[in-house]
Amino acid sequence: MAIFTSLSPNTEKDDLWLAWQTLFKPWQWQKGQAVLELENYFKNWLPASYAFTFSSGRAGLYAILQAIGITDGDEVLLQAYTCVVVPNPIIWLGARPIYVDCQDDFTMSVEDLEKKITAKSKAIIMQHTFGCPSQVEAIMALAKRHNLLVIEDCAHCLGGHYQGQALGAFGDVSFFSFGRDKIISSVFGGMVATNNLALAEKIAKLQNNLSYPSYGWIYRQLAHPLVLFFVKKTYNILSFGKILAAAIKQLGLISRAVSLAERQGGKPSFAGQKMSNGLAVFALHQLKKIDRLNEHRQKIAAVYDRELAGLAGAQLPQFRSDNIFLRYTICLNKAKFLIKQAKSKGIELGCWYDWPVAPRDTNLDKVFYTLGSCPMAEKLAEESVNLPTNIQVSEKDALEAAKVVKEIINI
Ligand SMILES: Cc1ncc(COP(=O)(O)O)c(C=O)c1O
Repeated sequence: MAIFTSLSPNTEKDDLWLAWQTLFKPWQWQKGQAVLELENYFKNWLPASYAFTFSSGRAGLYAILQAIGITDGDEVLLQAYTCVVVPNPIIWLGARPIYVDCQDDFTMSVEDLEKKITAKSKAIIMQHTFGCPSQVEAIMALAKRHNLLVIEDCAHCLGGHYQGQALGAFGDVSFFSFGRDKIISSVFGGMVATNNLALAEKIAKLQNNLSYPSYGWIYRQLAHPLVLFFVKKTYNILSFGKILAAAIKQLGLISRAVSLAERQGGKPSFAGQKMSNGLAVFALHQLKKIDRLNEHRQKIAAVYDRELAGLAGAQLPQFRSDNIFLRYTICLNKAKFLIKQAKSKGIELGCWYDWPVAPRDTNLDKVFYTLGSCPMAEKLAEESVNLPTNIQVSEKDALEAAKVVKEIINI
């Protein structure tokens, strides 16, 4: 079978069985006990005083921005080399995303952050990209000096730590993603965590006023792991799986991670919705397996570290015990060539992020990004290639992927 970075990478047999069973219980799809169970489990596990589920990480971020009172004319600082779903909620509230350049570990440059703070700045979104902790102390100190709130974007780093403390417990408030390609997955899903009572009360009120996603939407998410299992199994059989995947996407039978409207700064319906019980069942099931999933990622990253050391023209991530490696991202100027060649050899590498505000067809004008404004982020976007670290990739697969990468680069 081919090796995949994406396409439902966390799904194991028990998850498939759970999806199958849940599909036949539509009366449990919207309301149920699993949402509360997930919130309680999560806050004890992180730990945090308060935790609130949402239909996605971006919906959680939208609620946070409303709770902290972001409005017309405010500025929110975030790093470039991110996904369009992060600046979008800022824009929906009439505020401006201000993009800060990165450093070469894909997280925010503190030097550039300092330059971009103005009298209109209200908050900083601190993104721990690919599971690599940001410059936590420096960013927190700068925020304190300028009286700015810090929102931790933990979409990539669930279960990650920095100097012994959980990522997500440093800022004023944090959000996590249970999206399809994240650390754990319920296809769509998100969590907001905070220790601040006043903020928690506002977020609880916002959450309470939201509606549930429709049955059709929940059905598409429940079907997702099952459909993709079939796609992957048939991927190399006369290209059947590849054609099937393209057809399914076109027909809208499963959802896109980022809708076409969002790539133009638009707001999807689920951005203002609760987490559904059916998907909470999944997220909870996966959260209970998280240590194994993350230990596996670190083990696979160590294989790449060893096998790719000295790869001509490539920059490997620094191996830090704090990094949980959602994906193992290398940078090299033959990135596009490598991704294309590897695909022809049955290895689907990833391209996060291939645009300073990804995906590649995001309309940068609509999200207020000016090309040239964050040169390091733009360079990383041209040069990034992700190798898979997920639970479906064995050490043998990782050795094979590293071998193929070396062969292609040394052509
Ligand atoms: C860096 C980053 N932050 C936030 C999000 C939003 O997460 P979600 O897909 O759960 O809305 C994503 C994922 O798309 C992301 O990559």
